[in-house]
Amino acid sequence: MGKTCAVAALVATLLCVTCAAGGANEVIPPEMSETSFLVDCDFDSAIPFCHYTNSKTDDADWYTTSGRLNDDEIGPVADHTTGNYAGTYLYTKTSYSKSYESRLEGVTAVAPADGGCVRFWYHMYGYEIGSLKVHTETSGDLGPARWSQSGYTKVSQWYEASISIEPGSKFKLVFVSQSGTGFQGNIAIDDIIYVDGPCGERPDPFFLVDCDFDSAIPFCHYTNSETDEADWYTTSGKLNVDEIGPVADHTTGNYSGTYLYTKTSYSESFESRLEGVTAVAPAEGGCVRFWCHMYGSSIGSLKVHTEKSGDLGPARWSQSGYTKVSQWYEASISIEPASEFKLVFVSESGTGFRGNIAIDDISLAGGPCPVKPPEMPDPSFLVDCDFEGAIPYCHYTNSKTDDAEWYTTSGKLNDDEIGPVADHTTGNYSGTYLYTKTSYSESFESRLEGVTAVAPAEGGCVRFWYHMYGSSIGSLKVHTEASGDLGPARWSQLGYTKVSQWYEASISIEPASEFKLVFVSESGTGFRGNIAIDDISLAGGPCPVKPPEMPDPSFLVDCDFDISAIPLCHYTNSKTDEADWYTISGGLNDDEIGPIADHTTGNYTGTYLYTKTSYSESLESRLEGVTAVAPDDGGCVRFWYHMYGSSIGSLKVHTEASGDLGPARWSQSGYTKVSQWYEASISIDPGEDFKLVFVSQSRVGSVGNIAIDDIGLVSGKC
Ligand SMILES: *[C@@H]1O[C@H](CO)[C@@H](O)[C@H](O)[C@H]1NC(C)=O
Ligand SMILES: *[C@@H]1O[C@H](CO)[C@@H](O)[C@H](O)[C@H]1NC(C)=O
Ligand SMILES: *[C@@H]1O[C@H](CO)[C@@H](O)[C@H](O)[C@H]1NC(C)=O
Repeated sequence: MGKTCAVAALVATLLCVTCAAGGANEVIPPEMSETSFLVDCDFDSAIPFCHYTNSKTDDADWYTTSGRLNDDEIGPVADHTTGNYAGTYLYTKTSYSKSYESRLEGVTAVAPADGGCVRFWYHMYGYEIGSLKVHTETSGDLGPARWSQSGYTKVSQWYEASISIEPGSKFKLVFVSQSGTGFQGNIAIDDIIYVDGPCGERPDPFFLVDCDFDSAIPFCHYTNSETDEADWYTTSGKLNVDEIGPVADHTTGNYSGTYLYTKTSYSESFESRLEGVTAVAPAEGGCVRFWCHMYGSSIGSLKVHTEKSGDLGPARWSQSGYTKVSQWYEASISIEPASEFKLVFVSESGTGFRGNIAIDDISLAGGPCPVKPPEMPDPSFLVDCDFEGAIPYCHYTNSKTDDAEWYTTSGKLNDDEIGPVADHTTGNYSGTYLYTKTSYSESFESRLEGVTAVAPAEGGCVRFWYHMYGSSIGSLKVHTEASGDLGPARWSQLGYTKVSQWYEASISIEPASEFKLVFVSESGTGFRGNIAIDDISLAGGPCPVKPPEMPDPSFLVDCDFDISAIPLCHYTNSKTDEADWYTISGGLNDDEIGPIADHTTGNYTGTYLYTKTSYSESLESRLEGVTAVAPDDGGCVRFWYHMYGSSIGSLKVHTEASGDLGPARWSQSGYTKVSQWYEASISIDPGEDFKLVFVSQSRVGSVGNIAIDDIGLVSGKC
């Protein structure tokens, strides 16, 4: 007993030294019975032979090796424990001139009162394979072989074997191999494990399926597939520094337990398969349970299959994308009575660094799984996003078929006042929101796509906040895609809003309908303004009815050309004319033929518009507004113009309707009597659709310019 403790302490010390050197997770050997401690060995630890030694009275030895044993396919391609090149197993050579015996001897252990069962895996393939015998030596007496295999097995693979141990008996395992005399084949063993109770008593399928990844044979009967792209690894404790992976294994809940995980940090989506062995379900059917942890925005998917006769079949369970909370979730799969099945866990990694897929505590119980009501995905969970937290985009992703992207940002977006000064959620620089750029050479589309959700039975209301301010703003449209059909925009904003602030918008969703939110922005082509969104949420019931908001005609018409963020307001230079209107401040000319200041302020700080006359020919410049609807009692458009100098041509103002410019509603030809700002006005009929168009015609010369300022609409007749 004292000796055992000393050995255990040595094991612990060596393991601690190992991990201190590695500097990573602290590994503490899991609790195991003394019999298991003396018998179990996966040949992978810091003490590769565990309690086994090569006999000193035989002809040859057992060696440890990793990965593929032979170049051809007659030896193992990987150890049994891990299924990959990282694990280690034992083998004896056959390339001797005569048949050599190699003995591997364990230490004496005592079986408990209800007996025990030793299991191990062996690999014996190749023409010149000799034999392997296993004895349970008692009091120095080797006794008869308790198990043996002569010659090679049918297939080049690991096979499982088991030996029952008498209740209360003392036994020492001795593996005796007899080599062949050629080069074809080696004898290999791996994963010796002891379990309480006779081999026959504990039904096989449970032993084959169950795994908490905490024992001396960490992968139990599971192996990494050799035909996939990536592997499953064991780990303990916290998987990531941030909170997106497990903080502890599921079995123990602390850093001493071990679980399996696959990485997501690959440049492309990789598949990792973990394969069990074929088991036969109990006569009353079975229920496989396991726990999985899938949190982080780079999570791909996990599917679990019950392969039969080499046919993977459909996924019996799957989870795509990450779970609601960073925690272990339980899953279960019912198995048909007495059916053959092999569990296969297939993970598809994401391509970022946020999140890993982890599993733990696979177990089989008799009888079908208790029926649970199917869990409806919570639509709010799928829709809601404030763009804060460990998963900044929530369930939203940038489309791969558009031109530009949505980005997360915090605080002030622009130095001037045309973007948000803070996110909407917190109102301060610590919060995050999404935006798309406008500074492209052409109009780019950015799509943000949600996932399909099912609206509550009473209908739903999606709310979100948007910020669209600046003259280069294009448009934002929101669709509720169903079955791959984007459908019409359910909400849209064209051009910038009246004020540089967050605005709320809402979209009603049909009761119980499937929908996927898609935000489609079309950028402008300048540097003034970005489109931003924040705080998407879904609430049950339709959106409260609001009276449709009529665009305020004054907002569309008024402009003093003084707002630096939006200097031209809703006006634009026509693309089909010959020359342009420009903004300017202060005096226009050195002599006194142009304005000496803008009209709004009367000093050099204000801005106004002008067109040049210094062209070699007479050119037209059109300034176009947007269509507005006159108030019910009619409207009066007022503006100020400055036209002084001998090269002045003419200025005409039209009220275009339905694409028809119509006759000039006001005009001035040639220069005015005095070099000053003059006021002009145009009456608009009640309810009339109108778009203001200012058309100037320059004359050849350099004396004089045409300038305008302070366009405004008031209700009532002029
Ligand atoms: C970890 O949890 C297991 C099971 O609950 C317990 O036996 C063990 O003492 C714990 N270890 C530590 C270091 O907390
Ligand atoms: C930002 O606002 C949030 C929510 O109101 C608050 O919890 C947080 O302390 C604020 N942070 C700063 C830096 O002001
Ligand atoms: C220019 O005029 C505006 C409006 O009257 C006034 O607020 C501002 O102080 C003036 N600036 C200067 C430099 O005179």
